[in-house]
Amino acid sequence: MKQLIKLDINNQVYEVPVSPKDLLVDIIRKKVGLTGTKKGCGQGDCGACTVLIDGAPVLSCITLAIACQGKKISTIEGLADEQGNLHPVQQAFVDYGAVQCGFCTPGMILSAKALLDRIPRPGELEIKRAISGNICRCTGYKKIVEAIGAAAAKISTGGVE
Ligand code: FES
Ligand code: FES
Repeated sequence: MKQLIKLDINNQVYEVPVSPKDLLVDIIRKKVGLTGTKKGCGQGDCGACTVLIDGAPVLSCITLAIACQGKKISTIEGLADEQGNLHPVQQAFVDYGAVQCGFCTPGMILSAKALLDRIPRPGELEIKRAISGNICRCTGYKKIVEAIGAAAAKISTGGVE
């Protein structure tokens, strides 16, 4: 039995019919149509489905959509500003070659953003810890860690490195 719920995603409210067992990742991708959020393992192991809920990284493949009413959900589509300028973490991923196939990238970037919102100048270990739930099969992580460090430097110096 479906129920109509409201989800606030990237500051836009979507009214969607859900059943109690519908997963947030499926609602975001299939009902709302925001396919930047990826579904990899579907069981909480890979981090590809990471979104932010009230600013904290959450695995949307093991989160019930119905439990997200009244919360602020952010996906990768909401990160660029209104003029379309990429968020500094997104830009750093481009500049530092931290993207290969891109499947892990939305989740990785959202985990990084949550870290930088919490700790503006994290050390390498803090960066590694923050993305430890996000698996990348392509890049070897080095460039990802460098990109996050560079984004932190850029944000904390107001855009001047
Ligand atoms: S798809 Fe959610 S953790 Fe892998
Ligand atoms: S870039 Fe391919 S999985 Fe990370």
